[in-house]
Amino acid sequence: MSRNGTGTVKQPPKYKQIIVYIKEKISAGEWPIGSVIPSQRELATMFGVNRSTVITALEELMADGLIEGKMGMGTVVINNTWMLLATNPPPDWNEYVQSGNHKPSQAAVQEINRDESNQSFIQLSKGELSPDIFPLETMKGVLRRVTENLGTFGYEEPRGFLPLRQALSDYVKTFGIDASPSSILIVSGGLQALQLISVGLLHRGSTVLLERPSYLYSLHLFQSAGMKLSGLPMDKQGLLPGAITAQKKQKKGDILYTIPCFHNPTGLLMTEKRRLELLRVCEEERLPIMEDDIYRELWFDEPPPPPLKARDKHGHVLYLGSLSKTLTPGLRIGWVIGPELVIDRLSDIKMQTDYGSSSLSQRVAAEWLSSGLYSEHVHMVREELRVRKAAALHALERYMNELATWQIPVGGFFIWLKINAKVSMLELFSKASRQGILLNPGNIYAQETDGYLRLSYAYASLSDLERGIRQLSQIVASLSK
Ligand SMILES: Cc1ncc(COP(=O)(O)O)c(C=O)c1O
Repeated sequence: MSRNGTGTVKQPPKYKQIIVYIKEKISAGEWPIGSVIPSQRELATMFGVNRSTVITALEELMADGLIEGKMGMGTVVINNTWMLLATNPPPDWNEYVQSGNHKPSQAAVQEINRDESNQSFIQLSKGELSPDIFPLETMKGVLRRVTENLGTFGYEEPRGFLPLRQALSDYVKTFGIDASPSSILIVSGGLQALQLISVGLLHRGSTVLLERPSYLYSLHLFQSAGMKLSGLPMDKQGLLPGAITAQKKQKKGDILYTIPCFHNPTGLLMTEKRRLELLRVCEEERLPIMEDDIYRELWFDEPPPPPLKARDKHGHVLYLGSLSKTLTPGLRIGWVIGPELVIDRLSDIKMQTDYGSSSLSQRVAAEWLSSGLYSEHVHMVREELRVRKAAALHALERYMNELATWQIPVGGFFIWLKINAKVSMLELFSKASRQGILLNPGNIYAQETDGYLRLSYAYASLSDLERGIRQLSQIVASLSK
C-alpha cells in the first residue's frame, strides 16, 4: 500500500487485491495444488466487484501458471512454487551460486560436514576431540579469571593481542622455535592461515607441492584462488624430498605444504632425518615451506623431532599452529610464525578480511597458555588419546584383521585403514551412514586412495568406537562378497 499526498492510504486496484488474496491462500498452503478456488460469482461478492474484474484477476493468475480452468470442476490450483507467487520474481540465486569464485566442497565433504553435527551418529570421521575430553571446569575457571581482569576491548592490533603472542613466543620455544611476538600473527584457526597465504603470498598459476594424500585435497582453498596442487609421494618416513627435485618445475611463487607430525589423513610422523633432508632440498630449490604442525603435541610414547621451523636459519618456513586439536576448535585461535615481512603482509590481509580474531577468544587463549594450564591439559589429552587409540586398535584387531590393514599410529587422531577387498567406497559410506556411522572415505584426500578410510579415534566414546568398528567390519564383509 502507498500513501497519497493527502495522507490517506491508497488501495491497489480491486483486481490486484483479488490476485494478492489468492496468492496468499496458495502460498500459505491453505489452497494446495488441486484445490478448487471460489467461483467467479463468490469472488465478485467477496470483493464487491463485477465478474469482469474477477476475470481480469484470474486471467493474470492463469498466465502466471498458478491456476487453470478445468472442465466440470471450476478453477483449480496447479502450481504453488514461490517463484510464481512472488509479485517480482527473486534474482536467480542459482546462477549466482554457480558463478562464485570459490569452488564448492566435494559433495561427500559437504555431507560429512552436515552429519558431523548429528549427535545420533557414531563419529568415526571427526577430526575433533571428544566432548568427554573437553576441560569444562578449567575453561569456566579461565573464563572467570579473564572476566575479572577484563578491561574495555575492541579491535586488536593487526598481528593480534600482544599478551597472546608473548605467551606463544614462550610456548613455541619449548620445542625449539625462536620467535619474537613481532613474527607471530594470530589467526582464526590454521585454516585461516592457509587462506591468508593463498591470497597474500601466492598468485594465479602458483603451484602448491604437498603430500599425496593430504588434508589440503579435501578443501578447494588454493585451487579457488587459481593455484594448482601437485602431489608428492610419501614413504613410512614421510614426504620424499627427492620428488621435489625430480619434478624440476618449481617456479617463482611455488610453495610446499607439509604436515610432518601425525599427518592428516595417514597419521605418519616424519623422521628427523627426513626433516633435515626436506629442509636442505627446499633451501637448494629456494622453495618456501608451510609447515602445518597442528597435531604436534598429540604424541604417545615420545615427542616428535623438532619442527622444520626450529632448524630454519634462513626464514624458509612459515609455521602454522592452532588450539583446535588440543583444546577446542570453538575458540578459533591459531597462529602463523614467519619472517616479519610475511607476517606484516598476512596481517594486512587479515585486517582487510575480518579486522582480527575475536578479542575475547584471544584473551582466553592467552590465559590458558600463560597460566600453564594448557600444558597440563595437553598432557591429559595425550593420556586420553592413548586409551582411545588402544581401544580402536583392539577393535580393529578383533573385527577387521582379515578385512583391512593399518599402521599403528604414534600420535594424532587417525588410523589410515586400507580395505583389503575391492569394495565400492560410495556404497560403504552410504551403507554405514544408513546404520548411523559416519566415515571419511580416503578419496577425499586423493583420488587414488579410494580403497582407504580415515578412522578417527578422537571423538567417539570408547563404547561407540567398539560398536562402530564392529558394525563397519560387518558392512565391509558384506560388500566384499
Ligand atoms: C592438518 C590440518 N590443518 C589445519 C586444520 C584446520 O584447523 P583449524 O582451522 O580449526 O585450526 C585441520 C583441521 O582438521 C587439519 O587437520
